[in-house]
Amino acid sequence: MAWPWLLPLGLFFAASVAQAAVVEHTFNVGNLSISQLCEQAMIITAVNGRLPGPTIKVREGDTVVVHLVNESPYNMTIHWHGVFQRGSPWADGPSMVTQCPVKPGCNYTYRFNVTGQEGTLWWHAHISFLRATVYGALVIRPRGGAASYPSSPKPHREEVLLLGEWWNANVYDLERTAFLSGNVTGPANAYTINGKPGDPYSNCSAADQTYKFHVRRNETYLLRIINAALNTPMFLRVANHSFTVVAADAAYTTPYETDVVVVAPGQTVDALMAAAGAAPGRYYMVATPYDSAVGGTPPFNPATARAVVEYAGAAGDETPQLPPPTQNNDTATAFRFLSNLTALVLPGKPTVPLSVDTRMFVTVGLGNGDCQPKQTLCNTTDGTRPRIFSSSMNNASFLLPDAGSPSMLQAHYDGNASGVYTRDFPDRPPVIFDYTADASDTDELKYTTKSTKVRTLRYNETVEMVLQNTRLIAKESHPMHLHGFNFFVLAQGFGNYDEAAAAPGFKFNLVNPQERNTVAVPTGGWAVIRFVANNPGMWFMHCHFDAHLDLGLGMVFEVQDGPTAETSVPPPPLDLPHC
Ligand SMILES: *[C@@H]1O[C@H](CO)[C@@H](O)[C@H](O)[C@H]1NC(C)=O
Ligand SMILES: *[C@@H]1O[C@H](CO)[C@@H](O)[C@H](O)[C@H]1NC(C)=O
Ligand SMILES: *[C@@H]1O[C@H](CO)[C@@H](O)[C@H](O)[C@H]1NC(C)=O
Ligand SMILES: *[C@@H]1O[C@H](CO)[C@@H](O)[C@H](O)[C@H]1NC(C)=O
Ligand SMILES: *[C@@H]1O[C@H](CO)[C@@H](O)[C@H](O)[C@H]1NC(C)=O
Ligand SMILES: *[C@@H]1O[C@H](CO)[C@@H](O)[C@H](O)[C@H]1NC(C)=O
Ligand SMILES: *[C@@H]1O[C@H](CO)[C@@H](O)[C@H](O)[C@H]1NC(C)=O
Ligand SMILES: *[C@@H]1O[C@H](CO)[C@@H](O)[C@H](O)[C@H]1NC(C)=O
Ligand SMILES: *[C@@H]1O[C@H](CO)[C@@H](O)[C@H](O)[C@H]1NC(C)=O
Ligand SMILES: *[C@@H]1O[C@H](CO)[C@@H](O)[C@H](O)[C@H]1NC(C)=O
Ligand SMILES: *[C@@H]1O[C@H](CO)[C@@H](O)[C@H](O)[C@H]1NC(C)=O
Ligand SMILES: *[C@@H]1O[C@H](CO)[C@@H](O)[C@H](O)[C@H]1NC(C)=O
Repeated sequence: MAWPWLLPLGLFFAASVAQAAVVEHTFNVGNLSISQLCEQAMIITAVNGRLPGPTIKVREGDTVVVHLVNESPYNMTIHWHGVFQRGSPWADGPSMVTQCPVKPGCNYTYRFNVTGQEGTLWWHAHISFLRATVYGALVIRPRGGAASYPSSPKPHREEVLLLGEWWNANVYDLERTAFLSGNVTGPANAYTINGKPGDPYSNCSAADQTYKFHVRRNETYLLRIINAALNTPMFLRVANHSFTVVAADAAYTTPYETDVVVVAPGQTVDALMAAAGAAPGRYYMVATPYDSAVGGTPPFNPATARAVVEYAGAAGDETPQLPPPTQNNDTATAFRFLSNLTALVLPGKPTVPLSVDTRMFVTVGLGNGDCQPKQTLCNTTDGTRPRIFSSSMNNASFLLPDAGSPSMLQAHYDGNASGVYTRDFPDRPPVIFDYTADASDTDELKYTTKSTKVRTLRYNETVEMVLQNTRLIAKESHPMHLHGFNFFVLAQGFGNYDEAAAAPGFKFNLVNPQERNTVAVPTGGWAVIRFVANNPGMWFMHCHFDAHLDLGLGMVFEVQDGPTAETSVPPPPLDLPHC
């Protein structure tokens, strides 16, 4: 008997409506001279001279072909964030996990199908901090077009809103400096909406710094909101307008009414907004950064980004209305939004598996460890190794294989993990402690060492994972992203997860849990997720704050082949870059 979540996806995704197409793009990565924050800047890695990069628009079932032409002086890879990559694990993109990088002056063509998913995803560089400028939207419409959206009203138009961060610096150098000094990256100089910070920064003669979203009265818009920021979750409001959330991370949700959208790095939200303003006026859209850190708080920039929603017929010089302010530390609002979403259950659509093969309890957070020999601060005359910031999952701080080694997927495919990774990522933390108590922040509990550990999964096994944030260094809401899969979020809460009190059926939503590829684990709290390992390959799971990923907040799932060629890792593409 087939369980409902394993029915062929075709039952839900009516593949017959329109012929699958090949959607082809060329991404030239190179210089873009830009005026930002009243300064002239050179972006060394911009795609096709644009910030954000081009939007890829497909229908469910289409094939995407992207020719990456690396005209920048840096190694480059691109990740198709949220795309399952079933049958195309070599195209996933994280540097040294599924591929070696595309070197300066070299090209590589990514080819993959977008099957069994609809909604808003995105693409970004997956190496160093280069995704600060190498990012764009990937919009997947139903095969039957907008008429097939499950919710109503059907939108008149659609609008991509990419939230980002901007540094008055070369982000590659920023990452190198942070790494060499063992420091965390400082906060962005500004936040952006579709690449622009907004009119708090228009006090100079520079070109337009404010994104304008033109609307017509009584029309409904589908906003495709993507948090592409490196390190900062966002609250988004539009003065005098509210939203109906209809999807998150390219999975439909039960329509959810709200006047604020909360979106952590890596996440997307699709929301309907009716242009029902009382007058054809001008209204600010405001993105407010969420500072979830409690305890040893890192430096934070509280500035907001602003765009303007402008009605046809509005007086161009009218001062826009502002929405009510959002506190930067408004955890209650973030939790209300993020925990209240539920999935829209549709016939034939996979839903949460009810039996579990593997249970994992994984602590997530910051800590510290010994400096690495390559780091300048490690260059002491007396041979001591100073402690630096580090981060870990179950106290294992993840290190990518060295350049020169094959990628992890190549090593897996060759059946030769030796010297590249080990299969001993633990299912439990090595020490059980009061994870969220201030008193736990001791040198001993914070100490972590570097390794490249994976958890091996049999094809098709069901995994339940408790993600438990710690209070080591600081409590923070870590946005945990899993490549290659969506997972169901069964429950979330604050404090220490209590296995006894959270017995299945008590706190878990096993009816219509939200489906995501990135969960913002509540600050000083926990989340429980489930997924079916039905996609062979090497799949990165990591914090989507780049500052934390760099410090080791990640691990990799090694999913073994199934019984058939279709359920096995195919040979690498012939043009896959070599290390
Ligand atoms: C890109 O800009 C950098 C920094 O200004 C410059 O050194 C480099 O020559 C430029 N590259 C190209 C291809 O124009
Ligand atoms: C992608 O779709 C094409 C066209 O439908 C098909 O020929 C190809 O086998 C698919 N590739 C994978 C990896 O599923
Ligand atoms: C990369 O692609 C560009 C544009 O198609 C082409 O001009 C160039 O020769 C290619 N470079 C390599 C190394 O293949
Ligand atoms: C670490 O970074 C912070 C924030 O950018 C900065 O204030 C501090 O001086 C840096 N410390 C070191 C040792 O570089
Ligand atoms: C413009 O305003 C911003 C924000 O108030 C400020 O940080 C910046 O220094 C100002 N720039 C100029 C050129 O006055
Ligand atoms: C918008 O809808 C309202 C209420 O139905 C109607 O009175 C008004 O004329 C409409 N405005 C436009 C521009 O269609
Ligand atoms: C818009 O919102 C502002 C602030 O919340 C409020 O003061 C104002 O009355 C509202 N205007 C309209 C036309 O609804
Ligand atoms: C949030 O910040 C405000 C202003 O800085 C402060 O008064 C308040 O106590 C903070 N709230 C929490 C929950 O930390
Ligand atoms: C979910 O939303 C409802 C109102 O729609 C609210 O009463 C409830 O507190 C919210 N849940 C959480 C966990 O905030
Ligand atoms: C360490 O110090 C030595 C001697 O001063 C110097 O030659 C070397 O470049 C330094 N290494 C690093 C990584 O800073
Ligand atoms: C995966 O598991 C499902 C349910 O247990 C089963 O129906 C299916 O045949 C399995 N697939 C393979 C290839 O083992
Ligand atoms: C770029 O990648 C190659 C191959 O993996 C590696 O040897 C080289 O050190 C990398 N270059 C930089 C600047 O990281």
